[in-house]
Amino acid sequence: MAEQGFTPPTSEWYRPSADMVAQANVPDYETVYDSARQDLAAFWAERAETLDWYRKWDQVLDDSNKPFYKWFVGGKTNMALNALDRHVNTWRRNKLAIIWEGEDGEQISLSYWRLWQEVNKFANVLRSMGVAKGDRVTIYMGRVPEIAIAMLACAKIGAPHSVVYGGFSEQALASRIEDAQSKVLITCDGAWLRGKIVRLKDTVDEAVQRSPVVETVIVVKRTGHDIAMESGRDYWYHDLMALPIASTQAETEIMDAEDPLFILYTSGTTGKPKGVLHTHGGYQVYTSTTLEWAFDIKEEDRWWCAADPGWITGHSYIVYAPLILGATSIIYEGAPTYPYPDRWWKIVADYGVSILYTAPTAIRGLMRFGEAWPRRHDLSSLRLLGSVGEPINPEAWRWYHRVIGGERCPIIDTWWQTETGGFMITPLPSVGLKPGSATRPFPGIDVDIVDDDGVPVAANEDGNLVIKSPWPSMIRTVYGDDERFISQYWEKYRDQGWYLAGDTARRDEDGYLWVIGRNDDVLKVSGYRLGTAEVESGLVSHSAVAESAVIGIPDELRGNKIFAYCILVEGVDSSDALEAELKAHVRHEVGPIAVPAQIEFVDNLPKTRSGKIMRRVLKAQALGQPLGDLSTLED
Ligand code: WT7
Repeated sequence: MAEQGFTPPTSEWYRPSADMVAQANVPDYETVYDSARQDLAAFWAERAETLDWYRKWDQVLDDSNKPFYKWFVGGKTNMALNALDRHVNTWRRNKLAIIWEGEDGEQISLSYWRLWQEVNKFANVLRSMGVAKGDRVTIYMGRVPEIAIAMLACAKIGAPHSVVYGGFSEQALASRIEDAQSKVLITCDGAWLRGKIVRLKDTVDEAVQRSPVVETVIVVKRTGHDIAMESGRDYWYHDLMALPIASTQAETEIMDAEDPLFILYTSGTTGKPKGVLHTHGGYQVYTSTTLEWAFDIKEEDRWWCAADPGWITGHSYIVYAPLILGATSIIYEGAPTYPYPDRWWKIVADYGVSILYTAPTAIRGLMRFGEAWPRRHDLSSLRLLGSVGEPINPEAWRWYHRVIGGERCPIIDTWWQTETGGFMITPLPSVGLKPGSATRPFPGIDVDIVDDDGVPVAANEDGNLVIKSPWPSMIRTVYGDDERFISQYWEKYRDQGWYLAGDTARRDEDGYLWVIGRNDDVLKVSGYRLGTAEVESGLVSHSAVAESAVIGIPDELRGNKIFAYCILVEGVDSSDALEAELKAHVRHEVGPIAVPAQIEFVDNLPKTRSGKIMRRVLKAQALGQPLGDLSTLED
């Protein structure tokens, strides 16, 4: 069951300008796509040659133990080698790597040289605290430059990081710390959002109480409000960075191409989040190639990926790929509408941003304020625009193209996932566009749309999106749970050996792909990924709730909004006050992004005879649609 249904407007085309095509890094998509298909290993080897290696690989792809694919086997590298070390020996040492703006207007810019020094210093700090190759470090921070420094320092010493988005609650943080068994946690006192302080360190204190595996907490001072510092456990980042141990020289750990770079937790179909594992070698090759080709990154570009570093978009395209390419990456701390709805447009104009990459939900949110806000600013520096996270509705696409892009910037609508590491379906600047379609697979990616038996569906029919051959930045496993890795992604099409994405999609008569939405118990709400089971377990952890079911309902602004159905325990009466209390409870247990828009109290839920809740029936009912096949309904 798809989340949203729409008829693609296949007649609407936006052809790239001749100038855009002529100057593009890849002027001819078809030729490159075909060459990759003819020899996948040679294609990726050629891309890997653009990076530095301590030792070159013996074998590009080892598929002898499917689905545990290995890339660049025998190769020795480190993310920090390509993202930093190699640049400081060139003129790029003086180029800006990161430009940061705080919500309060504070500005910091770090050249490659300076960033390299800061990373080296922090790598030394971490080492001195006993963090060694293979140890997992959890990072729970706001959007400050130190989050990139922390990630890169972990990479440099070979300690896989687990970044937990700063909007998650202490329960969500604690379970992720627990799963990764992190002894060290890096955080901030707080973060600025809409002019208010988000008290990150308070959340950390509660999480660490629930998850005593943490021995050391390093705290970056950002907001400066009073926080509790536990002696012997908590240290200020700036104090540690001032110690003699924090020298500006640090050895980069020589890593195997297949050694883990990071774990990133994402929502799946059960309440327990999955730790998606990515590695040093293939991930570097894939993320840098996709950014260079899809967004046409040039030396002089100013790249702004407006996501949060705590999601895969931020890992791959705020921090790692831009730095590998030697680009200048912009990070803005706060809300797009603070203090006024033109904050983003002001940032574009102030820094001369040439490529902006964001989510449809943000575009729709800013669109509501009207054209006058962007019109007040000079947006002529923009040359490409990007979209990610959910399908972009054609109306938002056209507004983005016309008002922000001045009708000259292609919209690069990138379909991908935490698990894929990088863009999978995306136009290159030379590809014609249709609003709402992510267009064509990236070179080297073999995508199909098939029915439950694996038979390709006809043009314009819905089916399951599958990826038929491996790619370098593919998920290697679910951390600590190979079984789940197999059952989640590879079981359904085991005979064919295809990767199951979990999305419903269709292909039109021109071969363009239209991703419609998730077809499992995963929701996309304002571009955030959430499991229905996570919200449900948040609700039932309240003493008044016996059972609950959660569904996504299409929403103009957020893509989907959360509807919850709750059966109360005997003797508890429903009330508006209880609804408000349950919302506050979910906010506390799971996080603000998981709060239901509406809670309905019911006496029973539709279930199959085996006891599985039929969310499909609830959804059809909520939308006033036919209930469909009810033969498996228990009652
Ligand atoms: C799910 C993955 C990967 C970056 C952020 C999301 C949906 C993502 C698109 C797009 C239609 C999209 C899919 C996918 N999605 N991009 N351009 N068009 N749908 O990563 O949180 O792992 O979510 O986001 O449903 O499966 P994620």
